[in-house]
Amino acid sequence: MYKNMLFVLISLFFASSAFAAETPDKKGILLVSFGTSMPEATGAIEALTRATEEAFPDVPVRIAYTSNIIRRKLKREQNISIPTPAEALAALNDEGFTHVAVQPMHIIPGEEYDEVKGVVDAFASIQGKYGFQRLLIGRPFLSNAEDCAVMAGILKRRFEGRTGKTVVLMGHGTPHMANAMYSELQLAISRAAGEGKIVLGTVEAGPSFDDVLATLKKARGKRLVLAPFMIVAGDHANNDLADPDDPESWLSRFKKEGYTVETDLVGLGQYPEIAKLFVNHVAELLKQVR
Ligand code: CO
Repeated sequence: MYKNMLFVLISLFFASSAFAAETPDKKGILLVSFGTSMPEATGAIEALTRATEEAFPDVPVRIAYTSNIIRRKLKREQNISIPTPAEALAALNDEGFTHVAVQPMHIIPGEEYDEVKGVVDAFASIQGKYGFQRLLIGRPFLSNAEDCAVMAGILKRRFEGRTGKTVVLMGHGTPHMANAMYSELQLAISRAAGEGKIVLGTVEAGPSFDDVLATLKKARGKRLVLAPFMIVAGDHANNDLADPDDPESWLSRFKKEGYTVETDLVGLGQYPEIAKLFVNHVAELLKQVR
């Protein structure tokens, strides 16, 4: 009996070591951004990538962009090739990665996030040599009330020095139901920084410019600081928010309403506290990718 057990254990040991020798675990991180074609704005994506590389020096870090328009523009104008999430996962598979953590840089779990999740779910369903042993996607920056409270604290500290001024943040906005996250965040910001100190709007959904203006009119302050609430201070920040020559930009419209306006065009990706938060999300995910 004892002899039999020993035999089973020994054969199990050899079987598992033989298997391990054939397919050693290889862990990788895939970061996913919407992307930007503005060279001066890529710093925000690079900052989050570098923070991840520094936090996990033993795990290779790759990047993919979700915007095909941006990927094609980069290829055409700067000869830079950035893969889609699907291309990046196929390449990681081909290079022998067995365990991959996919961490999007998205702020809310909207349409873009859903699309990345769709790709990850599809790859995760592949059995055999074209699949991974473990493939998971991480959470975006804001997916619950606690995330909003953490973000509100970061924003409060970031703009604390702007006394006597109202900070107007421009988020992206989406018809997706995840747009509700902006209202949840505004609630958390008002709790953390006080009512009317930091007002959040979006370019493409609500709260709109008019909603923000209505909120500002309730307060007496006439001095504003405009800043993007986006990872990258790219096209939307430079054009829709702060283009002085575009009468439709928020800058022009607030000026027309009699406000004194200054701009602070730094993408969230370049806040050190955001990089730290991002690395925490990756760490949380990596713990499960095993
Ligand atoms: Co957009």
